[in-house]
Amino acid sequence: MINKPLIIIGGSGHGSVIEACIKDNRNRYGDLEWDLKGFCNDYDTEVDGYPVFGGLSDLPRLVEQGYWFIWGIHLIGRNYKTAELYDSLQIPKEKLATVVHHTAFIDDTVTLEHGCFVMYNAYIAPRTHIGESVMVKANTNIGHDVNIGRLSHIAMGSTIVSCVNIGECADVAVSATALAHTNIGNYAMLSASALATHNIPEGEIWSGIPAKFLKNMNRQ
Ligand SMILES: CC(C)(COP(=O)(O)OP(=O)(O)OC[C@H]1O[C@@H](n2cnc3c(N)ncnc32)[C@H](O)[C@@H]1OP(=O)(O)O)[C@@H](O)C(=O)NCCC(=O)NCCS
Repeated sequence: MINKPLIIIGGSGHGSVIEACIKDNRNRYGDLEWDLKGFCNDYDTEVDGYPVFGGLSDLPRLVEQGYWFIWGIHLIGRNYKTAELYDSLQIPKEKLATVVHHTAFIDDTVTLEHGCFVMYNAYIAPRTHIGESVMVKANTNIGHDVNIGRLSHIAMGSTIVSCVNIGECADVAVSATALAHTNIGNYAMLSASALATHNIPEGEIWSGIPAKFLKNMNRQ
């Protein structure tokens, strides 16, 4: 099926990155699967020239109207809030779009749950599992047998070595590296340029090389 009408839930941050991917897939690769109609958020009336069809409370109406959706909200440092917002919307799974840039390499044993976004030049190795509505940004390396929980955000240029377990709505921030067999807990963050050599407990932010506890994730 082509030209499925799609709305990005979010704005000009992560949302615009997803928009750029959909446009590039259409323009350079002739991939007509998704027809981006606009955005949905509580703040804007337009994003990058696309209309905003309403706030998050308008989602049930937009579902009725037959749109597909992709989740483009990840409030950096407010991971509990991000998950709470997502769960409150109850987006039907069958209406979650998966968008993958044509330059990404994803092994055919990888499982991508509904609503995943995978951007330019991402590499995802065998038997890795990417949970619902996870964002995998540009130039990321994800090794084999990695598990990434739903709503997590894998930022540009980060590397996740094999057999890493990442919980739900967690972050691997820009240029960070998680070494093999480490765990990053639910709502936890490996911060920018950090190197995880040990497990990061739930709700904690770790930074530096090797990564150490920096602070707790905001619960609001
Ligand atoms: C974890 C993070 C959010 C912390 O940022 P912050 O809240 O602005 O940090 P704070 O102001 O609390 O900093 C506290 C201290 O830690 C230091 N610090 C902050 N981030 C650090 C990092 N990644 N590595 C090393 N030290 C860091 C600060 O310099 C500061 O030190 P000081 O007290 O000596 O001045 C930030 O480092 C980060 O990783 N952001 C995510 C970037 C990203 O991937 N964005 C997504 C793009 S799509």
